[in-house]
Amino acid sequence: MGGVYILQPYAEMVVHNIGVLATCAGGIKKGRDMLDAGLVEGAAVAVSGGRILAAGREDEVKGAVRTDGRTKFIDAMGCLVTPGLVDCHTHMLHAGSREKELAWKLEGKSYLEILSAGGGILSTVRETRRAGDEILLMQTKKRLARALAHGTTTVEIKSGYGLSVEEELRALRLVRRLQREQPVELVPTFLGAHAVPEECKNEPDRYVDLVCREMIPRVAREKLALFNDVFCEEGVFTVDQSRSILQAGLAHGLRPKIHADEMAGSGGAELAAEVGAVSADHLLHVSPRGVRALAASGTVAVLLPGTAYYLASGHYAPARALIEAGVPVAVASDANPGSCPTEALQSLFNMACLYLRLRPAEVLNAMTVNAAAALGLVGRLGSLEPGRQADLVIWDAPNLDYPAYHFGVNLVRQVIKTGQIIGRGEECAC
Ligand code: NIG
Ligand code: FE
Repeated sequence: MGGVYILQPYAEMVVHNIGVLATCAGGIKKGRDMLDAGLVEGAAVAVSGGRILAAGREDEVKGAVRTDGRTKFIDAMGCLVTPGLVDCHTHMLHAGSREKELAWKLEGKSYLEILSAGGGILSTVRETRRAGDEILLMQTKKRLARALAHGTTTVEIKSGYGLSVEEELRALRLVRRLQREQPVELVPTFLGAHAVPEECKNEPDRYVDLVCREMIPRVAREKLALFNDVFCEEGVFTVDQSRSILQAGLAHGLRPKIHADEMAGSGGAELAAEVGAVSADHLLHVSPRGVRALAASGTVAVLLPGTAYYLASGHYAPARALIEAGVPVAVASDANPGSCPTEALQSLFNMACLYLRLRPAEVLNAMTVNAAAALGLVGRLGSLEPGRQADLVIWDAPNLDYPAYHFGVNLVRQVIKTGQIIGRGEECAC
């Protein structure tokens, strides 16, 4: 009698002896589903062609794939394995740093006071405009390498320190070049409306016009960005100006994102829902109406606890209320030289638990699958399931509670990016 023979797929790599695998499988997470990180004990992950072939119980994975002498076996030594972290909100492309502002902050000056005195974002704009391409590339590569070493395999990068047509285009072209020159996957966002530049100080509407009529069409024509973001905040861009900018982007195929309700509640979340934004970010001062609007529009709330911590106002986004209302929550670094100078999304794991009151599984979903959703990438990365990109992190940690608990050190042992081994840290002791 003839049987049916199914040729099992060949695995180029198998990560085995995984103590706890967190797959984050099943798509974007809302409400109680955010507590489900898809944990499997005694697990393995098989990879080929940069994609996941199988992820789950070790015996099942080994039975589902073919291996031979060329297959690379990686022993996870009983540790935690998760998807690569997705940092869905950063400002990593800029020149220089602003450590001097820390002293001003300690003297009592607020972030917006520093900005309106020509410091803050505007001082980084001056420094970025002065910097040549090679300096900008070198500094940004260093930041991306740090992010990768801390487990981040995908990074959204915003423009926004150019604030002129040519400088904003230059920034986004450099992001495109960076994609070719280093391994972290980059997602470009246009943020021409990050601040009103000094030369338009007295005519903010003229700058809004420049963003809408010149910058956005050129960014779209050159396909330099997927998203269009705006800093909607009292003293920066009003709700009406932000609406015009986001609608101009939509008319050119750029999906809206918004810095909303960061320093004060100004209706940014309501605007995000109105324009169908893919994400509303910050939300420290979101109103109950704004929360309901986000839940109804399916907009992802991107929370940035590192920024809330560094602004030191003692105020954090109402993460629990957002989750209870059914808003999908993501967590990102906001890596930038002023309000959150860190590239290590991992370092916010503990903070997201203690100050956003998220459980470890919620934080992991927020930094992987839901962060991918905030970038429109949820079908391709952010979870470990067959067909997804093989971006994974082997942690020097015995379980998912551990990275939430042991803070201030790098717990990443090895990163695998699109099936390639990136780095090996110290041997695991768990
Ligand atoms: O998300 N809010 C505006 N932009 C950044 C800060 C950028 C900077 O200070 O350079 C933020 O907090
Ligand atoms: Fe930001």
